[in-house]
Amino acid sequence: MKTIIEPFRIKVVEPIRMTTAPQRERLLREAGFNVFLLKAEDVLIDLLTDSGTGAMSSEQWAGIMRGDESYAGAKSFYRFQDRIRDLTGFEHVLPTHQGRASERILFELVGGPGKVVPNNAHFDTTRANVEHSGAEAVDLSIPEARDPRDRHPFKGNMNVPELERLIQRVGPERIPLVMVTITNNSGGGQPVSLENLRAVRAVCDRHRLPLFLDACRFAENAFFIKRREPGCDHKPVADIVHEMFELADGATISAKKDGLVNIGGLLLLRDESLFQRASSLLILTEGFVTYGGLAGRDLEAMAQGFEEVIHEDYLHYRIRSVEYLGERLLSAGVPILEPPGGHAVYLDAAAFCPHIPPAQFPGQTVVCALYRHAGIRAVEIGSVMFGGSAKTVASGGAASSEASGSADDRTLAAQTGASPPRLELVRLAMPRRVYTQSHVDYVIEAVAEVHQRRQTLRGLRITYEPPVLRHFTARFEEA
Ligand code: F0G
Repeated sequence: MKTIIEPFRIKVVEPIRMTTAPQRERLLREAGFNVFLLKAEDVLIDLLTDSGTGAMSSEQWAGIMRGDESYAGAKSFYRFQDRIRDLTGFEHVLPTHQGRASERILFELVGGPGKVVPNNAHFDTTRANVEHSGAEAVDLSIPEARDPRDRHPFKGNMNVPELERLIQRVGPERIPLVMVTITNNSGGGQPVSLENLRAVRAVCDRHRLPLFLDACRFAENAFFIKRREPGCDHKPVADIVHEMFELADGATISAKKDGLVNIGGLLLLRDESLFQRASSLLILTEGFVTYGGLAGRDLEAMAQGFEEVIHEDYLHYRIRSVEYLGERLLSAGVPILEPPGGHAVYLDAAAFCPHIPPAQFPGQTVVCALYRHAGIRAVEIGSVMFGGSAKTVASGGAASSEASGSADDRTLAAQTGASPPRLELVRLAMPRRVYTQSHVDYVIEAVAEVHQRRQTLRGLRITYEPPVLRHFTARFEEA
């Protein structure tokens, strides 16, 4: 049997609304050619993000009813804590409302002016929280990550020689921790190998530096390891997950991805004194340590979600369905960032419409064309998001201020030679357990049809842009 099916059946349905081409034309113009300004109900297939957009299982909804809403020591917290300890081996488990709350607490404690934080590729909120503390965020990806056609199996890996050089240059005392993002979202949802994590761990050990994971998509990363890393194909995913976390001293996690919930996050720590200080900050702004800004029912849903996400039939379907989307687009001649990522396929908009100059935003043009043609919402990750006078951050991300040391940071990155040139991308992020194969087939057809007519696409020019985070609220007209 070759067909990999969705390993669930559907118990509750949420209608999605078809619109007509003239309606979409009007809505797109009213939104100033910016799909962030559309109403979600006017979108047919929403691939803006895989974060907090997944469907919960019947067991998770049952957990919602079981939620213990006691202020302190709720049963739901202990169920959640047991599940996370079992999954990761971490003793200290703090719940937070989402990933960036964990990042804010962590970098408030270990960041600060003069500090430097290396990462394979910071997600925008991670970078923003590092910079908000006054520290510098440095991305150290491998050279293969800069070539959209390179099919390196672990394109998310950290550049270990560059890490070593950075430590030599700035000195280990300025580096509070080394962070590895699994999977690497900013670099195309690409995985990091166990071999690479071990090599980073060895560098950290040599310089007595803690290693932290940004582990939002840990289960997808573990499944890639099982499929691609020599000697791992017979290991249960649960064991690979354990191995990844055992290499780390701490982790920040947005449960809105592989936690299979709509809201929630975690901060995992080994160090007792760091845990005590993080607990105090948690209480200051999030809530008591046994709920961290969430309801008891949210903790129940997370406890169950972190159980279901490592089921191998689920992961097989998940990784395969994104890969299927990527492969079909490639065979239709559509240029994508290869290989397809774990949570998303990224269209290579520069290759998609070479006749549109970067100043006329080819990525945003493709985003608009997909909505116009088929009611699909994607997100531009290119010259709108990263260009302009101010530094901006990605979808859902927090602002990083203009004066936050990003110029120094670019200098540092340039010195390491590890600063990737900006790619002009359009991300099609797949919500978990939400769309079926026929939805995916529809997306494939729509993208292929837009690609066939690419010569007719017209670039855009900006008519309004705010000083920061322009991609959220900028308005455009056709050039
Ligand atoms: N780290 C990574 C790698 C992420 O992808 C995200 C969120 C976060 C941290 C922050 O988590 O949103 O719960 O505060 N990524 C979403 C996205 C927004 O669309 O890729 P959060």
